[in-house]
Amino acid sequence: MLPKLNLIAAACENMGIGHNNNLPWRLKTEMDYFTRMTSKTKHQDKKNVVIMGRKTWDSIPKKFKPLNNRINFILSRSDLVLSEYKDVYSFKSLADAINKLNEHNFKNLYENIWVIGGSHIYDECMKSEYFYRLYLTRIHKAFECDTFFPALPEGLKEVSDEDVPKEVQNEKGIDFTYHVYENVNFKD
Ligand SMILES: NC(=O)c1ccc[n+]([C@@H]2O[C@H](COP(=O)([O-])OP(=O)(O)OC[C@H]3O[C@@H](n4cnc5c(N)ncnc54)[C@H](OP(=O)(O)O)[C@@H]3O)[C@@H](O)[C@H]2O)c1
Repeated sequence: MLPKLNLIAAACENMGIGHNNNLPWRLKTEMDYFTRMTSKTKHQDKKNVVIMGRKTWDSIPKKFKPLNNRINFILSRSDLVLSEYKDVYSFKSLADAINKLNEHNFKNLYENIWVIGGSHIYDECMKSEYFYRLYLTRIHKAFECDTFFPALPEGLKEVSDEDVPKEVQNEKGIDFTYHVYENVNFKD
């Protein structure tokens, strides 16, 4: 069976996702949703894998590193020093990360795979045969951004997920909505 990549991202009206290697907004409800979705497993003895680019890893405050209860995969073309962290792996390419996900022994350890950004990683994953779903939070406000979500590919259909609230969310006067898009070309 192919590894199934679930992408999760929050984008504002201009599809911006980041500014100065940080999030352009502070929305606790959205952050809690991200943590809940990427951490939740059916089996207590398994964790999910989160895949991120090196800049996204750098943007996580030290006290929150690695993202807890999840196996952290970091993509970088440099040699990262990560020995102080448990459950953290670095890979030089997405293909290397996929090879790890396909390893027989490693397969027993994880349940779901979440790709958590940034921009190029989302793009590469959406173009791959492993792209299954995009969980996109649309923030209905414009923010100044220097990093953007890539163009959405053809062949997405909006689906529902019982874990994803359907109603409009509001925090600090900002409306946002959760969306789930499935890649109709994904072959299980
Ligand atoms: N709103 C959201 O949902 C969301 C989610 C994630 C991130 N963000 C924001 O986005 C910004 C960071 O994203 P970003 O797009 O600038 O950077 P990024 O994707 O997190 O990291 C880019 C780095 O990842 C490595 N990389 C990328 N593709 C690779 C590949 N195929 N193989 C090996 N390594 C690869 C390279 O690291 P090296 O340079 O070390 O080689 C590259 O410089 C921040 O502002 C962050 O807050 C927002």
